[in-house]
Amino acid sequence: MSKSYKIAAIPGDGTGAEVLNEGKKVLEAASSKFDFGLDLIEFAFGGDRYLRTGEVLPDTAIEEFKEFDAIYLGAIGHPDVKPGILEKGILLRLRFELDQYINLRPIRLYPGVETPLKDKGPKEIDFVVIRENTGGLYTGIGGVSMRGTEHEIAVQSMIYSRFQVERCLRYAFDYTRRHGKKTDGRGTANTLGLVGKTNVLTHVFDLWERVFHEVGELDYIDIEREYYHVDAACMWMVKNPEWFDVLVTSNMFGDIITDLGAITQGGMGIAVGGNINPAGVSMFEPIGGSAPKYAGMGIINPLASIAAGSMMLENLGEYEAAEAIERAVMIVTGTKLKSLAAGEMGYSTSEVGDLVVKEI
Ligand code: IPM
Ligand code: MN
Repeated sequence: MSKSYKIAAIPGDGTGAEVLNEGKKVLEAASSKFDFGLDLIEFAFGGDRYLRTGEVLPDTAIEEFKEFDAIYLGAIGHPDVKPGILEKGILLRLRFELDQYINLRPIRLYPGVETPLKDKGPKEIDFVVIRENTGGLYTGIGGVSMRGTEHEIAVQSMIYSRFQVERCLRYAFDYTRRHGKKTDGRGTANTLGLVGKTNVLTHVFDLWERVFHEVGELDYIDIEREYYHVDAACMWMVKNPEWFDVLVTSNMFGDIITDLGAITQGGMGIAVGGNINPAGVSMFEPIGGSAPKYAGMGIINPLASIAAGSMMLENLGEYEAAEAIERAVMIVTGTKLKSLAAGEMGYSTSEVGDLVVKEI
């Protein structure tokens, strides 16, 4: 008997449903080719439901999601809902309550895709950022006092426990061992780079740096260790991205540098994020947002959503199928699409999905 997976699909807002449809189409093709079962169950959470009912996410949803093998997310963000409500109430709530403490973001330039970086190609732009996903500035710890007066104080604390730092670093070391450049035959070493700010954030990044070297020395002596200040890392991501193999960093820094990374890999039409709980339910998403102005037109690029599906299969252990989808995406970017931009692909959203299916 082949394996079967129960997937919670959340189309969400804007173009989310359109891209997720193509992702599902590709997943279904992979499931018949590679002989595993897929049971996709849809949940209509998002801006429309919130505007109708006043509820962002029912409390029961979290418990329900725990029964699934993974969550496949379209996009969150609605033009008629104040920014922050849906992001916090759906995306961040799921990350926190399902303890998805890793955010995995490959920065990989596929063949045929244009990058704004001069003289760089797929060989140079090929690394992975592991972003800590449930701590730091995202915990919401802090407050305001004397609001609206000239004495107003606002505090937002960067919180990290040793436990959070260590589990994230261990995941990053393990990941580097399995997917580093040496393992993949792309280089001579597997290298993990810590991105921090030890020269100013002397409490939090001292903790990160100490645990990084302690754990590395103890259990991952085969992995080379590097350290970059976050500001310098931004510079090198533009000037010498080929230096990087796997990077690990805090939540806020990871949020920022992965948008920079995304634009170097061709933009939001292709960038993927995995919100991972290695021992629980993980959630996979294109990181591009809901693009409301393109919604319903059939012109949005579904490749990020399709690639998120590939990352989901990889995490479920369907390695062959995951690889086949990524390879198909690379054929499509390399030989078919005129551009990754919405409306400029030379194909409609569903035609792009069909092109990928054909290559699987
Ligand atoms: C991301 C997004 C989210 C984040 C927002 C939408 C809350 O920017 O996934 O990178 O800041 O984590
Ligand atoms: Mn972001």
